[in-house]
Amino acid sequence: MKTLAITLASAAMATGAFMAAIAGQPATTNIGAELPPKLRGLLIQEMQEIQQASQQIQAAMVQGQHEIVAERAQAIHDSFIMEQQMTDEDEQILHDTLPAAFVERDQALHELSAGLAEAARNEDTDEQTRLFSELINGCVDCHVKYASGRFPGLDAAAR
Ligand code: HEC
Repeated sequence: MKTLAITLASAAMATGAFMAAIAGQPATTNIGAELPPKLRGLLIQEMQEIQQASQQIQAAMVQGQHEIVAERAQAIHDSFIMEQQMTDEDEQILHDTLPAAFVERDQALHELSAGLAEAARNEDTDEQTRLFSELINGCVDCHVKYASGRFPGLDAAAR
């Protein structure tokens, strides 16, 4: 049994979506609720800032205001509010609570925003729209997998 459990655990880490599909529902649909209040608060604060920045990027991008796109995208990249305000103990809790796949998605978001800032500095609008749409897909994908408890309209089963 122990072997099976370990095998399942590593399989779940490698193929979370597949495991979720056969289990009928994603392993974690409300990850915010699993965090201690302080860390959940920091996550929500980071999300609100990202939300605001992405709206500003969209408005600036369609008007060719490259400097604003670059500045706001860079702000998303640099945000990592969670990291800035965390003690070592907080980091340990986060490490124990968040699945690796969640952390990877968060990192991907920050990397994409760096690419977007670069495209804006190059005044490359096509590249900006491409990366911006990838960025928004990234928001939705993560919310579907880890926050559909919070956002029932994104429940994978309902899509
Ligand atoms: C790595 C996963 C992940 C990514 C990527 C992500 N989010 Fe979130 N987001 C979450 C989680 C989890 C919550 C729910 C937090 C909770 O309920 O405590 C959330 C909550 C939110 C909220 C609600 C905040 C509030 O007021 O409570 C907004 C707005 C939001 N995200 C916007 C965005 C936008 C915009 C993007 C993309 C640019 C994005 N998120 C990308 C995980 C993610």
